Amino acid sequence: MSQGPRSGLAAVSSALLAMSRHLEVRDVLKTIVASARELLDAQYAALGVPDDHGGFAQFVVDGVSDAQWKAIGPLPRQHGILAAMLKDAKPQRLADVRTDPRFEGWPSAHPDLADFLGLPIRDGDEVIGALFLANKNCPKPEGTCGFTADDEELLSILAQHAAIALTNARLYERSRELTIAEERSRLAHELHDAVSQKLFSLRLTAQAATALIDRDPARAKGELQQVAALAAEAADELRAAVVELRPAALDEDGLVATLRTQAQVLDRAHTAHVTFTAHGVRALPAAQEEALLRVAQEALHNALRHSGADRVDVTLARRGSGAVLRVTDDGGGFDPHAIRRAGRHLGLVSMRDRAGGVGGTLTVESAPGKGTTIEMEVPGG
Ligand SMILES: Nc1ncnc2c1ncn2[C@@H]1O[C@H](COP(=O)(O)OP(=O)(O)OP(=O)(O)O)[C@@H](O)[C@H]1O
Ligand SMILES: [Mg+2]
Repeated sequence: MSQGPRSGLAAVSSALLAMSRHLEVRDVLKTIVASARELLDAQYAALGVPDDHGGFAQFVVDGVSDAQWKAIGPLPRQHGILAAMLKDAKPQRLADVRTDPRFEGWPSAHPDLADFLGLPIRDGDEVIGALFLANKNCPKPEGTCGFTADDEELLSILAQHAAIALTNARLYERSRELTIAEERSRLAHELHDAVSQKLFSLRLTAQAATALIDRDPARAKGELQQVAALAAEAADELRAAVVELRPAALDEDGLVATLRTQAQVLDRAHTAHVTFTAHGVRALPAAQEEALLRVAQEALHNALRHSGADRVDVTLARRGSGAVLRVTDDGGGFDPHAIRRAGRHLGLVSMRDRAGGVGGTLTVESAPGKGTTIEMEVPGG
């Protein structure tokens, strides 16, 4: 090192701090490479993260201008000394890289490298990258001075921190991907539970209006008004799902009134008779009310779509400080165990998730020929 021990320590420390400040993988790599070049006073520095196909997923350089970098051409492959570092996971300190038997030449625009110091970046047993420097700046204008054992030690400290920074950056990116995936799944559930049901009812009502329009224009007109109302509700639900609002009706009218209106709307839209009764229900925590509404919507929708029932009854009753919701149909029933959790069917999975998500439970009681009862209990406040 050209600096004294104190300023050297300060430089290392600021390099490490800079590394830990960045969370994007590429920024971390850039900081590592720039710090290494500066600390070891080299002309060139580079860091490569290998991919699984013999190339580099990422390759970051310092000391090379953009124009020069473009002129060099495609990214290096994992061959020659780079490959040796990645495979053997050993440091390479060479007085002249060009005279090494593993040297395989470089593209014409590549800067001429002489003395070379390279270190693998390891996470446990896995080599996750290689960090290397070339052409140490010499105090004397003539001749080369080459990298020393001290330089190697210093670079190995940087490489260890680079490993941590890289691993953290990857974890961070992974967790951000997970958040996006969770958000997508929430939206999928929301669209499924609320919007697709409204659209289903809307379609049926539109069909009814078409069938009636010649025979009974007055009733067709009523159905068409219903179509307009359902379309407006679907639009509201869609907006709520996208901006993650709870259904406006819950805030305005409360759970009992919302369920009653939904039952009335479905009763009119479908041939089955749909009823709703409430027994002594008190206000519940907002999240539990929302979950109850969503589960009621899906259970109603399933009953109307799959069961062929003549009647679907919804009840909401107080139990302790919480409440129990029950949706019962007298339709064909099904074998709940025969429904696979994964796959196309989102409804039953979504109902279970919603119940569990607010500390509640969901029970599905059904058998072929016996009708179906979906029960959800929530604990209350
Ligand atoms: N009330 C019911 N009566 C008869 N069969 C039902 C009833 N509820 C659910 N099923 C059966 O269980 C299956 C799974 O229901 P689920 O709600 O998970 O998915 P889906 O309704 O088919 O599709 P999705 O809800 O994702 O649009 C249904 O396809 C149907 O065969
Ligand atoms: Mg369903």
